[in-house]
This record gives sequence, C-alpha cells and structure tokens, in this order.
Amino acid sequence: MEPRRDSKETSSSIPAEMAASLMDAARAAARRAYVPYSHFPVGAAVLTADGTIVAGCNVENASYPLTVCAERVAVATAVAAGHQEIAAVAVSAPKAAGTTPCGGCRQVLNEFKPSQADLIVFLDDEPDVREVPLGTLLPASFGPRDLARAAANPDKW
Ligand code: THU
Repeated sequence: MEPRRDSKETSSSIPAEMAASLMDAARAAARRAYVPYSHFPVGAAVLTADGTIVAGCNVENASYPLTVCAERVAVATAVAAGHQEIAAVAVSAPKAAGTTPCGGCRQVLNEFKPSQADLIVFLDDEPDVREVPLGTLLPASFGPRDLARAAANPDKW
C-alpha cells in the first residue's frame, strides 16, 4: 500500500507546498539583486535540513570578478546562520527561464548535500517549476567524502 501523505509531494519527496515556498523566496530575492553591470537578476533560496528557507541574490561589483552568484549568497548566509545541510535549492532568473546554477555554484551546493539523498534543484520555468537532482547537473562530483576517503590512506604517496 502507498504510504499516507499529508500533502502532495514533488518527485523528490519534498512537499509541494515547501517547494512552492522555496521558489517564491527565490523569485522575491531576484527582485533584490544588485546587477548594474549584467542586468541579469538571479534569486536563489536554499531549504536546510530543518526546513528553514534562506534566500540570496546575485551581488555584482565594479571589479567584475568579485561578483557573487545568488546561490552562493544563499548558501553562505545559511551556513552563517548555523545550517550545514541543504536539501534543496530554488533558482530564479526572471529574464531567462530555466536558468541552471553555474558550475562553481554546483560545486558549492555539492559541499552541503545531505548524506542520504541528493540535493534537489528547482528551476524556474515560470509559471512552471522544473526539478533536477544535483547529481544530474554535476555528475561524478568531487566532494568532502573524497577527502575523508584520503584520510584513511595517510602513507599512500
Ligand atoms: N549568476 C548567478 O547569480 N547564478 C548563476 O548560477 C548564474 C549567474 C549571476 C552572476 C552575474 O551577476 C550574472 O548572473 C550574470 O552572469
């Protein structure tokens, strides 16, 4: 028999209302983006292990490489608030439907994925939302577990 569910779930078992709130937060954050150079606003919102939603937007700089992506702002803000596990992230780039996190942000998200499940990425295809596992965007990833494996072989070099 199917397990009883109190609310509709996305295919990743994140409750649909939670996924909707996450995307709402990402869309709202995009409106706060500081993008005087690219004019490409992005909002992101991460869902932490305890269900907290933390948002971020891209913050550009006159020294262009110092720009920080929305996803990284959201992750750093969540970590600074005491969270160390991210179950999902919603990304919204209102001028370009379906925008995915850049390669660097995929790696940063990979650092905080749950130990027992993949991190779910929700992409804004306004009004629809698409869902893709981080493992699809960043296959064969390198992460903290690889460093932990190496610690088991201190003399092997
Ligand atoms: N950007 C993000 O914030 N997230 C991404 O995943 C893609 C790129 C920002 C960086 C820059 O402010 C603007 O989008 C154009 O690259």
